[in-house]
Amino acid sequence: MIQIKDVTLQDVEALIIPVFEGEECKQEVLEKLVETKVFLGKEEELFVLPSINNEVRYTIYAGLGKIEDFTTECFRKAIANAVKKAKSLKVKSVGISVNVNEKLCVGGNVRTITESALLGLYTFDKYKSKSEPKETLEIYITGVPAEKNVRANEVLAESKNTAEGIILARDLTNEPSNAIYPETLAKKVIEVFEGMDLEIEVLDEKQIEALGMKAFLAVGQSSTHKPRLIVMRHRGDENSKEVLGLVGKGLTYDTGGYSLKPTDSMKTMHSDMGGAASVIGAMYAISKNKAKKNVTAVVAACENVIAPDSYKPGDIIGSMSGKTIEIGNTDAEGRLTLADAVTYIIEKEKVDKVIDIATLTGAVLVALGTEYTGVITNNQAFYEELTTIAEKTGERFWQLPSCKEFAKLNKSSVADLKNIGGRNAGTITAGLFVGEFVQDLPWLHLDIAGTAWSDVSEGYQSKGGTGVPVKTLYGLVATPCPCSQKHRD
Ligand code: BES
Ligand code: MG
Ligand code: ZN
Repeated sequence: MIQIKDVTLQDVEALIIPVFEGEECKQEVLEKLVETKVFLGKEEELFVLPSINNEVRYTIYAGLGKIEDFTTECFRKAIANAVKKAKSLKVKSVGISVNVNEKLCVGGNVRTITESALLGLYTFDKYKSKSEPKETLEIYITGVPAEKNVRANEVLAESKNTAEGIILARDLTNEPSNAIYPETLAKKVIEVFEGMDLEIEVLDEKQIEALGMKAFLAVGQSSTHKPRLIVMRHRGDENSKEVLGLVGKGLTYDTGGYSLKPTDSMKTMHSDMGGAASVIGAMYAISKNKAKKNVTAVVAACENVIAPDSYKPGDIIGSMSGKTIEIGNTDAEGRLTLADAVTYIIEKEKVDKVIDIATLTGAVLVALGTEYTGVITNNQAFYEELTTIAEKTGERFWQLPSCKEFAKLNKSSVADLKNIGGRNAGTITAGLFVGEFVQDLPWLHLDIAGTAWSDVSEGYQSKGGTGVPVKTLYGLVATPCPCSQKHRD
């Protein structure tokens, strides 16, 4: 539970106070702490001050660093770490003081606090037989000036929905492949969106076959868990015919197929539907917040496994577009499913722009690590739109070059295309393979193989699925903050 309400240490068991290094201290205790250098307000610094009357209560000072070096990212981490600290102290209620400064408007403060607190508290421990009871912590955002209350409550509701979308994406990504496979993923989508104003259609393998989605089927057909095509439609602007198309890679497990992965690379491959999870999470935020744009999302969900009738290296397969594809490696399966999903969303859903989001290549980890999502595009203005939003959401993107010489690497001598472009520039050739199917529509390809999963818990990030890039996808569709400052609010 999170709400905007003025509280003091008499009302809550812990009070979080963000502090800038070197700021003028409004409290005597804080002044003393700074004076004696016990707590200075440096970035990532936390100080817990217990006060014992009848009960133990805590003041948690959270350092933000120097005001001139302020970044929203530092604020996010400070809030998440402070809330996690409060949780570890087993308190049931916590107040978080809005540190109104000229860097963020009240909306920006409320957004940052809400998202960071809710994401910081996220854990995935449902499979532990002694898992901790789910969040009961009451959170109060305190110190919002009365005249800003209406706006603050609007932003609170919006940010809560966005955080829930991110948490949904994290949950889906973290679920193992024996729980989430195409059929159960589709069921989960239907269950989550029940009663919400969003149209959902799930196509089974017969309908997928009737559509001629041969590339998608080549990857997924041989598994006992049959493929599903999941379509979600949000209509937020009935006066416009424009529709944004989102396509998420939905490999609920990727063994590599006959080009089998070694165990160490395979064991997190239940997260190979991170792109699907992010479009489902984004659609949740878009729909719950009644975003005023039209968006359609498609997930081609399947499993890449070994069976007697699985596709093999050397096979030549068809696709919904009519293009033929030589299989060089059955582990380069994502681009095959995306090729058909992109064709479907353009031809059947009539979208005007396409963004595909995929855990597509290990090569993007080599190039950009776990901080940046690799981007390929055919439209620079569309890319600028993405990065403008990303500056505000804190998610990081980096464009890779995509000149036509790279595209040549995907040409086959026996078919129209081949699904591996060779050792060099693996992220680029994988992206450009998908680009062969976008029919000149403005297109962004987001390779999240490095950013969809975290091996560590840190700040608002928990170990496992990250939910990247739900925030930015939502931001692309959301109404921007009326305030002129750089952040979204
Ligand atoms: N799902 C993987 C990519 C991946 C790697 C995601 C690491 C997350 C972490 C993808 O299907 C794959 O196997 N790609 C191959 C492509 C290669 C065979 C051309 C890869 O990156 O090794
Ligand atoms: Mg693979
Ligand atoms: Zn894969």
